[in-house]
Amino acid sequence: MAEMPVPHPGPNQVLIRISAAGVNRHDCNQRSAGVHHDGNPVPGLEVSGVVAALGEGVTEFATGDAVMALVQGGGYAEFALADAALVMVVPDALDPVAAAGVPEALFTAWWNFFAMMRLQREEFALIHGGTSGVGHIALQAMSSLGYRVLATAGSARKVKAAEGFGAFAAFNYNHSDLVGKVLRATGGAGIGALLDMSAGAHMAADLEMMAPDGRIAHLSGGGGAALNVPLKTLMAKRLSITGSLLRPLALERKTAVAAMIRRDVLPILGTKVRPSVAAQFNLEDAAAAHREMEKGSHIGKILLRVADR
Ligand SMILES: NC(=O)c1ccc[n+]([C@@H]2O[C@H](COP(=O)([O-])OP(=O)(O)OC[C@H]3O[C@@H](n4cnc5c(N)ncnc54)[C@H](OP(=O)(O)O)[C@@H]3O)[C@@H](O)[C@H]2O)c1
Repeated sequence: MAEMPVPHPGPNQVLIRISAAGVNRHDCNQRSAGVHHDGNPVPGLEVSGVVAALGEGVTEFATGDAVMALVQGGGYAEFALADAALVMVVPDALDPVAAAGVPEALFTAWWNFFAMMRLQREEFALIHGGTSGVGHIALQAMSSLGYRVLATAGSARKVKAAEGFGAFAAFNYNHSDLVGKVLRATGGAGIGALLDMSAGAHMAADLEMMAPDGRIAHLSGGGGAALNVPLKTLMAKRLSITGSLLRPLALERKTAVAAMIRRDVLPILGTKVRPSVAAQFNLEDAAAAHREMEKGSHIGKILLRVADR
């Protein structure tokens, strides 16, 4: 722990007194990269808390409002700055601490499925990693809105959990014939939009299970991994393979995603969509929280609590 001055909100920024921060894989990667990491030296991409101060031009919030926000690093702290466009009031039905586990998942899911892959209602979607922080929120939100989202996971316990989060069908990716199972579950249609956080571990199977004109979006770079893409299948079905990094995305694009989330998900947040909190640690115990994440047995989100001081 280190002492730093409380930051001042600039124009269109909000200062948040933090109640909790969500732990993400990115934070573990940042810790491993150490000083070579290019971002904010303080980790933490998502927080919940109360508005402590408003920068010039911010009219939609008042001090004391319970909020959650996607932040550009800095969440493992007592205070953080957020762009007002990426701050949302926590709905009454949502636990204000658990709210810290929502922003990164929703921004990632909505950016990838709706802005990048333009998922259509009649299509099937699939998430490799259905019980991850990202996956379990995406499954709840998208299935509540009527999308048919399949999921994979690496154990029977996680497959069952993915079904509980609303997966249209869920399969253990370690078992045989994943392609056949997915095709049968979709009535032969295949997958229109696939979100992959496995760094292409199932690439050949993915291409087989995609529908014509299907899109695949990658979330994990796998530490510099390369993809081996069967070109004939790619060409025969006109498939697209893409990927992105949420954190460096331009504010205007994140703002557009925030508008979609406000419209689509805020009305069902806390009722139909609730973060499953696998574990909570005090901020001082962030190292233990990272060990828990790296163990990989969690279902849902790991949170850091900022104790009342
Ligand atoms: N690029 C971006 O903008 C962006 C944004 C957010 C997150 N991410 C990335 O997305 C991933 C999820 O983040 P998180 O914070 O939610 O982490 P997390 O909760 O630890 O989830 C990691 C997930 O990856 C799944 N996975 C690992 N190997 C797999 C495989 N071979 N096949 C299928 N699934 C596999 C795990 O599934 P099992 O446990 O069932 O094996 C687990 O659900 C991380 O890689 C993170 O870096 C990227």
